[in-house]
Amino acid sequence: MMRGIMTPHPDAGPGAGRTAGHPSTPIPDRGTTVADLEIVAAVARNGVIGARGGLPWRLPDDLRRFRALTTGHAVLMGRRTFESLPGALPDRQNIVISRDPGFRAPGAETAGDLAAARERVSRPDPAYCIGGAEIYRIALPFARRLHLTEIDRAFDGDVRFPDRDPDDWRETAREPHVDAVSGVRYDFVTYERTGRILTRPGPGA
Ligand SMILES: NC(=O)c1ccc[n+]([C@@H]2O[C@H](COP(=O)([O-])OP(=O)(O)OC[C@H]3O[C@@H](n4cnc5c(N)ncnc54)[C@H](OP(=O)(O)O)[C@@H]3O)[C@@H](O)[C@H]2O)c1
Repeated sequence: MMRGIMTPHPDAGPGAGRTAGHPSTPIPDRGTTVADLEIVAAVARNGVIGARGGLPWRLPDDLRRFRALTTGHAVLMGRRTFESLPGALPDRQNIVISRDPGFRAPGAETAGDLAAARERVSRPDPAYCIGGAEIYRIALPFARRLHLTEIDRAFDGDVRFPDRDPDDWRETAREPHVDAVSGVRYDFVTYERTGRILTRPGPGA
């Protein structure tokens, strides 16, 4: 099995680690509605999404796509994913989910659970759930769309994308790529939920 290179999480590049900026356009007042949720994840052929607190691969075009997709929106993440970053992701509303009410994340807001995180969203829909494994698992039932980078290689790792019922998702786009340096093949794939979506998290989510 491949042993990958440890790299920081998405957006580790120019500008990464800066404090989250303010939007250049006025933010619509969301009122009491809860943000639409979409998931963004890069997933190896064996389901691995991370290793030892980082990413087990280096795919610069995937990071660029991640930045393009999420800029201007809210990004919801688990505390461990936030700590894998050089800092808050610029030009996005960073919301970090932690059970620790004393947790503070520089440049980011904090929320005690997924429901509270969605209620904090003040950027336009959709809000993007950007991991890690624990947060993908609780967010999956509420997601309308998945933006997966499906990497055609297995990697060693300690966290995996949650299992999902293929009948719940319909593939609507697939764009093949090859990393120029490593030769790793990967596809940007979009899935839309086929059926009913949960709108409110249950206890513990
Ligand atoms: N490939 C990808 O696209 C991708 C994307 C993101 C992350 N990753 C990788 O994934 C790994 C991190 O994932 P992870 O699963 O270990 O951690 P995580 O999901 O990022 O964060 C877990 C933390 O979130 C908080 N949390 C989880 N469930 C909660 C709930 N129901 N209510 C309130 N807070 C909750 C807890 O924080 P407290 O302990 O503070 O309470 C928990 O320790 C890293 O290796 C990272 O590089 C990969």
